[in-house]
Amino acid sequence: MVISARSMSRRYGSADLPFVALAPTSLDIEPGEYVAIVGASGSGKSTLMNLLGLLDRPSSGRLRFEGKETTALGPDALAQIRNRRIGFIFQQYHLLPRMTALGNVELPLVYARETLRNRRRRAEAALDSVGLSAKLGSLPASLSGGEQQRVAIARALAMDPVLLLADEPTGALDSRSGADVLALIEGVNRRGRAVVIVTHDARIAARAPRIISMRDGAIASDERRSEQGLMFA
Ligand SMILES: Nc1ncnc2c1ncn2[C@@H]1O[C@H](COP(=O)(O)OP(=O)(O)OP(=O)(O)O)[C@@H](O)[C@H]1O
Ligand SMILES: [Mg+2]
Repeated sequence: MVISARSMSRRYGSADLPFVALAPTSLDIEPGEYVAIVGASGSGKSTLMNLLGLLDRPSSGRLRFEGKETTALGPDALAQIRNRRIGFIFQQYHLLPRMTALGNVELPLVYARETLRNRRRRAEAALDSVGLSAKLGSLPASLSGGEQQRVAIARALAMDPVLLLADEPTGALDSRSGADVLALIEGVNRRGRAVVIVTHDARIAARAPRIISMRDGAIASDERRSEQGLMFA
């Protein structure tokens, strides 16, 4: 199992006036799965993603990542799992503006203390895999939104993660660039990595073999599709 969450919750606010962003939730994600998360604004999708990505800590419950309990780990151990095992893509790209496309994609390899030669080779290969070999030296501001998101995908893949988390990766893109980005993400999954994608786009969700639907900080439904049609998990 890549992810195994048990009674995992997230509350904000004070103890006497808590706001439950995520009610106790149990969830497994297997290697190579492709999961879409849908739900209204404020239903807790990003809260759940940030917990799955070890960017945030649950208020209660447990979270195993590749079999290892994470809730008692310190910040450095969590950062190391994020760096080595998880790729992130966000709606707003989150590229460093003063670094070239190549520099941005090299960053996770720098954190992992790869040699200069290795990180250059791997970053170039990652940018090639998203069709941006011609833009290695470009700054983010000189790239289109779709190109910036492809740089973000290359950065997310540079360390060859087991899990790719994408929170509305096509939300800021026109339909053509969005389709390109989605095709890349689906290709990442076909090459065996687990993908969790948050989307408001019903067409994107409809392509996913598993759809988790959130409402008011809880999973309202979790449906797996087979060739025969919908199955309930
Ligand atoms: N840091 C925070 N402090 C207090 N409340 C928060 C915080 N982060 C999120 N929330 C609240 O938790 C709830 C769930 O937020 P979340 O960002 O997970 O929603 P979402 O489903 O991702 O929405 P959207 O589709 O708009 O991105 C919201 O009501 C939000 O206001
Ligand atoms: Mg969100």
